[in-house]
Amino acid sequence: MKLGILTSGGDCAGLNAVIRAIGLYVYDNIPGAEIVGIPDGYGGLIEGECFPMKRGDFGDSLLREGGTVLGTSRQPYKTIAAPDGNGSRLSRMCANYRKMGLDCLFTLGGAGTHKTAALLCSEGCNVIGLPKTIDNDIYGTDVTFGFQTAVEVVTECIDRIRTTVGSHGRIMLVEVMGNKAGWLALHSGIAAGADMILLPEIPFSLDAVCDFVAERRKSDSPSAIIVVAEGAVLDTEAPFKKSERAFVRTERGERTVTARLAETIAERTGAETRSTVLGYVQRGGTPCAYDRLLSSRLGGYAAFLAKEKRFGVTAAVAGNRITFNALTEIAGRYKTVDPAGSIVRFAKSVGVSFGIK
Ligand code: F6P
Repeated sequence: MKLGILTSGGDCAGLNAVIRAIGLYVYDNIPGAEIVGIPDGYGGLIEGECFPMKRGDFGDSLLREGGTVLGTSRQPYKTIAAPDGNGSRLSRMCANYRKMGLDCLFTLGGAGTHKTAALLCSEGCNVIGLPKTIDNDIYGTDVTFGFQTAVEVVTECIDRIRTTVGSHGRIMLVEVMGNKAGWLALHSGIAAGADMILLPEIPFSLDAVCDFVAERRKSDSPSAIIVVAEGAVLDTEAPFKKSERAFVRTERGERTVTARLAETIAERTGAETRSTVLGYVQRGGTPCAYDRLLSSRLGGYAAFLAKEKRFGVTAAVAGNRITFNALTEIAGRYKTVDPAGSIVRFAKSVGVSFGIK
């Protein structure tokens, strides 16, 4: 059996731990098996690049190393099958899958990667997906690897920011990743004791945000920390496409509401307001122990599915069980925060504002 591994989309902690578990399981449980690494995500498959990976290549250092030893890239799903003068990227991936003589391809990636994986399956390739992203927005799994490490990183960052906020009596907006789903903002905001959390799933009211800040300034703790998911949106602009939203100031190259919101809060309340965009630190560094364990279990299970020739699926977590979903079931679907769900209700019950009246 010849198996290929690729990592696609944004990197995160835990990718290498998944790779290690796949390698160890395959070499210790599938006699005569051979593994190749495919560099730079689907980009490597499009170019037909691969290299052999022996058992010794799956050492323990992969448990600790962040990022991906295979490299990654983004190959936007919406144009993957578009003719480009040399067939399409999809047709070249399928041809190279066959040229490499693969019996199975493991794709470690987010929602977009899974959509392309489902397409490869429909073209006859044997694919097994693994749910990767710091956003935790993949449908069909309770949690994705990389998410918990990002929650730890963001929580620590907010803890550090709290000292300057308290010293200056300021309002600090902390922008975290999460375009379609606000899981990272929600979990880290609660863990770090944020006063307000703005999510893509709960469009916020400018009046409610400013009234909240104004009230805080009258209280004996005038400072506040507002965690903003990068996909958060004004209630008056939620119906429009991102490119049509005036509140996002594009002339200065901002893509999110954070900078404009900080200025508006300062103008309307007189509060000293600052913003911090955590950016790519959220994806870096060594995986936490939880993600090392989760990644190892998911990788080992995916390799077991390959041994059983169970293709066209993606590994998943349900409760404390590792299981799988059909790729066609989950491709293109997102798991978003339920505004009426228990974790939001809990946060509200202990005074966290979500920027609404
Ligand atoms: O991987 C998910 C993610 O980190 C999003 O949260 C973020 O908006 C995006 O990737 C950033 O993409 P890129 O790495 O291409 O800038």
